[in-house]
Amino acid sequence: MRCTCHLADEAATLAFGARLAQELKPGMTFYLEGDLGAGKTTLVRGLLRALGHVGRVKSPTYTLVESYSVPGFEVFHFDLYRMHDPREWLDAGFRDVSDGLAVSLIEWPEKAAGWLPPPDVIVHLRINDDGRDVECEARSPCGAHYLETCCTLC
Ligand SMILES: Nc1ncnc2c1ncn2[C@@H]1O[C@H](COP(=O)(O)OP(=O)(O)OP(=O)(O)O)[C@@H](O)[C@H]1O
Ligand SMILES: [Mg+2]
Repeated sequence: MRCTCHLADEAATLAFGARLAQELKPGMTFYLEGDLGAGKTTLVRGLLRALGHVGRVKSPTYTLVESYSVPGFEVFHFDLYRMHDPREWLDAGFRDVSDGLAVSLIEWPEKAAGWLPPPDVIVHLRINDDGRDVECEARSPCGAHYLETCCTLC
């Protein structure tokens, strides 16, 4: 299961994040791929706002992770760009992050390849002359079911 969508501007990326928020289930893991500035954090911002988060959504570039409590579950937003060694994932105590209770949104997952929980959905953002293109790919039965319900408008 795959879906693609064109995102003409920042508002479209926020709206797409909000759409992804609708069918989220505790325990889901998302890999957010794409170059620097592709819009990964913007998408997370749209998703968190749709879940009722009203404060800032800071990029966790220096902290590696920011966590948010929303009704029903926790959301962990990771940015692994500054990790130099995949083992830092374990050193930071993130091994148990996929305990089935939280949603994990992971920017730069390739930095900890081999150590992360497997994704339910990979979201890939591409920069082009006219905004961004986003492609979502399911990687588990849960992810496939999820995309079937929330990407029908693409
Ligand atoms: N669809 C879009 N069209 C044009 N600009 C966009 C779009 N979506 C987001 N942006 C802009 O792209 C810029 C970078 O966005 P963002 O910080 O979300 O990228 P990122 O992928 O998280 O980058 P990094 O890898 O550095 O964390 C922001 O200025 C944002 O407003
Ligand atoms: Mg970012």
